[in-house]
Amino acid sequence: MSRKKVTILDLQRKKDNGRPITMLTAYDFTGATLVDKAEIDVILVGDSLGMVMLGYNSTVPVTMAEMLHHCRAVARGTQYAFTVGDMPFLSYQADAAEAVRNAGLFLKEGGMAAVKLEGGREVVPTIEAIVRAGIPVMGHIGLTPQSQSKLGGYRIQGKTAVSAHHLLQDALALEAAGCFSLVLEAVPEPVAAAISQKLTIPTIGIGAGAGCDGQVLVFHDLLGLFDRLQPRFVKQYANLGQAALD
Ligand code: KIV
Repeated sequence: MSRKKVTILDLQRKKDNGRPITMLTAYDFTGATLVDKAEIDVILVGDSLGMVMLGYNSTVPVTMAEMLHHCRAVARGTQYAFTVGDMPFLSYQADAAEAVRNAGLFLKEGGMAAVKLEGGREVVPTIEAIVRAGIPVMGHIGLTPQSQSKLGGYRIQGKTAVSAHHLLQDALALEAAGCFSLVLEAVPEPVAAAISQKLTIPTIGIGAGAGCDGQVLVFHDLLGLFDRLQPRFVKQYANLGQAALD
């Protein structure tokens, strides 16, 4: 069967038909060609590139210029996957007009098909403005690494009944704001599963159990290329770092 470019409609169809969605990060041309050849549905140019490609201690220092540089390389290496560019810290928080302009640059200059941004109900007006401009938005709730300092570190979110309820309210608000999909990061499995069932749009989990509509992993974690931070939930399929050392 000949392969076709993955669209938002294909992702929605996968959820509707109970077929799992696959998403991986990629940050450069060669990585993107590998992920694309593996027939992964979505390539995320994550701001995790700040840590695994640029050696920052967190994703906070990542700039728009750095994101667009990596997005362009990934776009050149991607034929079929749906591409999503991650909006870096301070590119969308200050005001909605700036957020729309920056989101537009991911499509216009970065060659991406959509953007992702972190946050719950507080980012709804921003998401509405970006979607009104014709730009598809993927939401991201639970552990949101850009605000890890406010959260007290890289910690599981939604562990109490109250915080789980807040997460569900955030998820419903993001869907109503027009998000086409939602990342759930570091959320207890039953909470992520319940959110996934309540939403019409697909959820993509990372450290959120098997009840999500899809799963995402960081390229370097999956292949054992980054040992500075190793989240417990990561399924490592190879240890290419050690192989290279050997
Ligand atoms: O930046 C990133 O790679 C991400 C994923 C882990 C979801 O946001």
